[in-house]
Amino acid sequence: MRKPRKAGEGSQRREEQPIPDTSPETPSQVSPYHLFSDADEVTRFRASLLSWYDQAKRDLPWRRRAAEEPDPDRRAYSVWVSEIMLQQTQVTTVIGYYTRWMQKWPALQDLAGASLEEVNQLWAGLGYYSRGRRLQEGAHKVVEELGGHIPRTADMLQKLLPGVGRYTAGAIASIAFGQVTGVVDGNVTRVLCRVRAIGADPGSPLVTQHLWSLAQQLVDPARPGDFNQAAMELGATVCTPRGPLCPECPVQGFCRSQKRVEKEQMVVSQRLLDSPEQKTLDVEECAPRRAGSCPLCPPSSEPWRQDLGVTNFPRQPARKAPREQRAAVCVLQQLGSETSRFLLVQRPSSGLLAGLWEFPSVPAEDTESVQRRTLVKALRTWVGGPLALRSLRCLGEVIHVFSHIRQTYVVYNLTLEEQPQGLLPSGARWVTRAEFQAAAVPTAMKKVLRLFEGQPSRRGKASKSPQDPAGPGPGRQRHQLTLNAFFKPASTP
Ligand code: ADE
Repeated sequence: MRKPRKAGEGSQRREEQPIPDTSPETPSQVSPYHLFSDADEVTRFRASLLSWYDQAKRDLPWRRRAAEEPDPDRRAYSVWVSEIMLQQTQVTTVIGYYTRWMQKWPALQDLAGASLEEVNQLWAGLGYYSRGRRLQEGAHKVVEELGGHIPRTADMLQKLLPGVGRYTAGAIASIAFGQVTGVVDGNVTRVLCRVRAIGADPGSPLVTQHLWSLAQQLVDPARPGDFNQAAMELGATVCTPRGPLCPECPVQGFCRSQKRVEKEQMVVSQRLLDSPEQKTLDVEECAPRRAGSCPLCPPSSEPWRQDLGVTNFPRQPARKAPREQRAAVCVLQQLGSETSRFLLVQRPSSGLLAGLWEFPSVPAEDTESVQRRTLVKALRTWVGGPLALRSLRCLGEVIHVFSHIRQTYVVYNLTLEEQPQGLLPSGARWVTRAEFQAAAVPTAMKKVLRLFEGQPSRRGKASKSPQDPAGPGPGRQRHQLTLNAFFKPASTP
């Protein structure tokens, strides 16, 4: 579903869980090395970051709206939509979706009147569909229970709106309402971990709490929304996960990772020169780390890596391997005189890809023959009539990685010459190719259709083109895709 994120783009927030409101730790528990202890340093940090942002920020549609929309509810709505879309998705992907969304539903009241089907349809391809559903639930709630007014503070936003966690609440409150509240997302985490050389697990409660406390301390009281966006922008465009552009960084002078890099380089070059005179750089250090007891430094089992430079921070959390899952899916095609149609069935209204439409599928079985029989049995119940098992052709496999699942689809095709007689049950429908493209269909199914179209279809076989006299064959799938499109009726894209 989700397009892969570019380095630094998109935040690494999971769908937000409310974070228990623990009291902020007292700075005395933390080494000053990981803090901003000097008010003057904080002021200079803010000024450097904001003046960079003023000249380097990207011109993004939600930023324009936030700057130009005078009505606070419309402004907050436009920020809310952008923040939800930006979760786990890169900015370049979001721009088009955001623009279409705001054209269709320019105000909360418009969204509240939309159907979930329409929301899913617009969201198709963006992934993590529950985000769109929750947005719409939130719009309903604001219209029906809150008099059309979006809560004005981060606390109330988080408390009252579904799908709005600590980060999103802080982003809306600071950007739309000017509340002086800091935010921490994946990009801010990276910036702060580098700036204050925090190498302990960024997902641990202690580091999480420390990062929120730093963000709250640093946020500019006069321009909180801009400051928060500047910190995110820095993480997305300069302080990137790999290959950060340190010489371009406006806060390099504040960066303890950078100082650590310089110090480690000095140690190495002295070792290489075998210098008897051991010069030391006058660099601030974390005293508890030297004693092996700093809870914010990397564990001693993970020593400094010279090749990584500042990207030694933050520590990379161990990723769990996605679960492997297999399904057999069938592109059931019904040939018509004008245009052919495909059978789509709707997923249940909760769980993964809730309410979306897909080709009929069954969990993949151990043996191919059992798999075929199970699939045909399921198809018969959908179309309500007999289907010939032997007509089922296996086309290959499509792999799609969801957030936590690596899904393999074994793709089959069955083509019917005539329309089946039985009535389709609700939750199933025949669609043309154009309708398929416009429907709320997950990206994985679009991949399945591409595989299907890459194969020599019955129509494709019959139609040989002067450019391709041999007709399609193995290894010519890309070309065949174009030919299929060429031979489709004009109404299909
Ligand atoms: N990521 C999420 N929200 C953002 C914003 N408002 N600016 C930059 N990056 C972001």
